Amino acid sequence: MKKYAIILAAGKGTRMKTELPKCAYPILRKPMIAYIVENLRNASLIDEIIVVVGHKRQVIQDILLDAVTYACQEDQLGTGHAVMVTEGLISDLDGDTIILPGDMPLVNSCLLESAMREHHDRRHDLTLVTTKLDDPSGYGRIVRNESGYLEAIIEHHEANYAQKMIDEVNTGIYVVKTSLLFNSLKKIDNNNSKSEYYLTDIIKVMKDDNCVIGTYHLKESYKAMGINDLYALSIAESRLRNDINKSLMRSGVAMINPDTITIGHNVKIEENVIIHPNTYITGNSVIHKGAQIGPNTEIHESIIGENVICRLSLVYNSTVNKDSTVGPFAHLRDGAIIGEKNRIGNFVEVKKSTTGFNTKASHLAYIGDATIGKNVNFGCGAITVNYDGKNKYQTTIGDDVFIGCNVNMIAPINIEEGSLIAAGSTLNKNVPKGSLAIARAFQVNKENYIRDKKNRDDGEEK
Ligand code: UD1
Ligand code: CA
Repeated sequence: MKKYAIILAAGKGTRMKTELPKCAYPILRKPMIAYIVENLRNASLIDEIIVVVGHKRQVIQDILLDAVTYACQEDQLGTGHAVMVTEGLISDLDGDTIILPGDMPLVNSCLLESAMREHHDRRHDLTLVTTKLDDPSGYGRIVRNESGYLEAIIEHHEANYAQKMIDEVNTGIYVVKTSLLFNSLKKIDNNNSKSEYYLTDIIKVMKDDNCVIGTYHLKESYKAMGINDLYALSIAESRLRNDINKSLMRSGVAMINPDTITIGHNVKIEENVIIHPNTYITGNSVIHKGAQIGPNTEIHESIIGENVICRLSLVYNSTVNKDSTVGPFAHLRDGAIIGEKNRIGNFVEVKKSTTGFNTKASHLAYIGDATIGKNVNFGCGAITVNYDGKNKYQTTIGDDVFIGCNVNMIAPINIEEGSLIAAGSTLNKNVPKGSLAIARAFQVNKENYIRDKKNRDDGEEK
């Protein structure tokens, strides 16, 4: 007996007015649809997830890859039609199927599990998740009979004045006996103002067939929010941000002005961390204890070690080991691995490079495609010249190397341990162990040049 989940994500999201298909739109820098798949995976009861794709389907498939099965809805003829196109993929009709829209990122696994349990325990043929909203406009309204039983769902633009006053709405989540789903869908039509096959019409069809239909009421109504436009998106984002920040603060993460701090859904932060304003930490980042992050810092898919201080900086796909300081105005990217007790200071960029213990680049340096040992000092303006316009080349720097200011190291190059590079050098040859390398024009002082020139110029004027 297999349990399926069907996520509807083929629509364009016309009301968003964005290029990106709606369900791919990010919330806290993660696509909406990824939240839904993750929540379903966490709800242990699902065996197979089918995602209905259509409009710009490759964008959705590039996000979810092969974590799910895809059904293609070539023309978006409505939510009912979207479910119909999954029929060929459903091989086991004995269990239940949960259907949910791809624009509902706040729904959590706990709610999905409860709805499925209620459906099973009460032996419903279909369970609809409903909620009450202060402003129900845009949502399908729940019409009940005198005894309180669900009669029908009436879409906002089909509803009369009295129906529009109803504040109980369809969340778009349904649990249904798989064996009944497709036969019931065959009976819905598109005789409505949008000429679409509405999934909501399945209620009426199943009622007419004497099926047992029940509702599951969701108390925290904001979790059922459907993201139809960018305003709804901003509200959902701030709810999610508050939820995440609250639980982090309660677990011992200090936040200064938390409304300005955005932490992604999959970020892990240990206790005794301080986060300063205007900071984003996203992706699968991990922040170890004692770290201080921000203000004005972005960290994405990165690991920040214990007691690291990272201020006014960008850190992408990188690792900073413990007791190091980063910033202000540093940029670490593409697999930078900073050793313990480093100092990566003002206007320093590190790309695809590793540094050893106690290495320092305090100001204005570029370190790209380099392997650097311990106790290395990069002077102000030291640069790895790693790119000739076509290819990238490696720089290797041994332990205890001192690089003076304004040094260009033209890669590929190997600077062996204990060397000293004179300021202003442009190196294009390897430097053997323990050497002093000087590669610059020597200074010439032309004495009395200014006085003599002035005398010459004065003579010409006369
Ligand atoms: C839908 C419900 C409404 C409910 C609301 C909850 C219908 C007819 N209406 O309205 O009762 O209150 O959700 O948020 O079901 N989609 C497809 N193919 C299509 C059409 C839509 O895959 O042909 C997908 C969309 O990508 C979206 C989801 O289905 O993820 C819901 O579609 P949307 O247009 O947002 O429906 P609502 O108007 O919000
Ligand atoms: Ca919607």
